[in-house]
Amino acid sequence: MNREQLFQELVDACTTLISYIEHHSAYHSYEITDLVTQYARLWNLNAEQIRDLYYAAMLHDIGEVVLKGELLSKTGKLEEKESAMMQQHPLIGYRFVSRIPSMERAACIIRWHHENYDGTGYPDMLSYRAFPIESQILRIADAFVSLQSERPYRKALSADEAKKVLASQKGVMCSAPIVQRFLSALEAGEISYKPGKATLSFPASYPAVEITREEGEAILLAFSMGLADFIAHRIPYLKGYGFRVGMVTDLLAQELQLNDRERFLLFLASFLFETGMAVLPSEILFCRKPLTAEQRVLMERHSEVSAKVCSKIRSYPELEQIVKSHHEHFDGSGYPEGLKGDAIPALSQILGLSATFVSLISPRPYRAAYRVPQAISILSSLMGRFFPPHLRPVLALLRQEYV
Ligand SMILES: [Fe+2]
Ligand SMILES: [Fe+2]
Ligand SMILES: [Fe+2]
Repeated sequence: MNREQLFQELVDACTTLISYIEHHSAYHSYEITDLVTQYARLWNLNAEQIRDLYYAAMLHDIGEVVLKGELLSKTGKLEEKESAMMQQHPLIGYRFVSRIPSMERAACIIRWHHENYDGTGYPDMLSYRAFPIESQILRIADAFVSLQSERPYRKALSADEAKKVLASQKGVMCSAPIVQRFLSALEAGEISYKPGKATLSFPASYPAVEITREEGEAILLAFSMGLADFIAHRIPYLKGYGFRVGMVTDLLAQELQLNDRERFLLFLASFLFETGMAVLPSEILFCRKPLTAEQRVLMERHSEVSAKVCSKIRSYPELEQIVKSHHEHFDGSGYPEGLKGDAIPALSQILGLSATFVSLISPRPYRAAYRVPQAISILSSLMGRFFPPHLRPVLALLRQEYV
């Protein structure tokens, strides 16, 4: 397995998630990355630095995924509290990305992509030489592209207007040489940016790193656990949920004598299946009353969003369908496809049962947690309707382990 290929799959998964945020698109990441890699070449960075910059540019705004949509689409000026929240996004992104093995430096670049050379940026108020060149390169490319993109609170600037703004930022936003070289490279055609025309390729200078299956699995697991924690930042009641579901799925996987690959897939899916919840509006996530029909439709989209994200993890193609079908019911009353009986993947059935059990014994905004015996009797009443009858024996195991 090639390590960078796996990373590209994970980055694709993240940009897919980013593309669901209002007023944002995966394309913004591509445009920045294209420009950043062009500009980085002019600074004699080594292959390692360019690789880290590439990933950092792709994921620089990932932290915005867990900010409230209301904040991102606000047309007026942000209030002080709101802009403080908004300014958290580099740090939130850093926390997530730094958990992935060998992505630590990319994570730092993300953390510092809103610092300013004069020390007025955030979150760490780095200044002068303490502001690393990689982050400065990302900072200036991001600024140049962002100025030329329309925002809810302002119109897009022309390229010339954007250059004028940058020219006033020498020694302010970035060091004078970083700004000056950027502007002259644009002028000389050494770098170019045309809105909507990004071409993207992973830096060819970076050598392929072969990793074992176990190393690949460790990366994937670190990524998935990090993603689950990341999403819990927006949805606190999901904190630790992936772990709790993972413990149950793993218990059942052993009981049902699944093979190693199935067991791993199921454990992985336990951290990924609710990913799509991150893009739901707050009034649905934190609703204390039963959802209206319209809200239900929106809420039910989450399994498809999770599946879309997982579909990018091409090294494990089964993940997409396992995750997509976690709300399908044995009798066909589930969603999103209304699959019935054996048409529902066996691993989705186990995931669905485990997740329902853990949900029932966890508090939710609209209800308190059920006690374990109550939860088991609810599950028992759902056998043959939501869950296949052949899973009934695992209820005895849950009773034994959890009561
Ligand atoms: Fe940003
Ligand atoms: Fe950005
Ligand atoms: Fe779900």
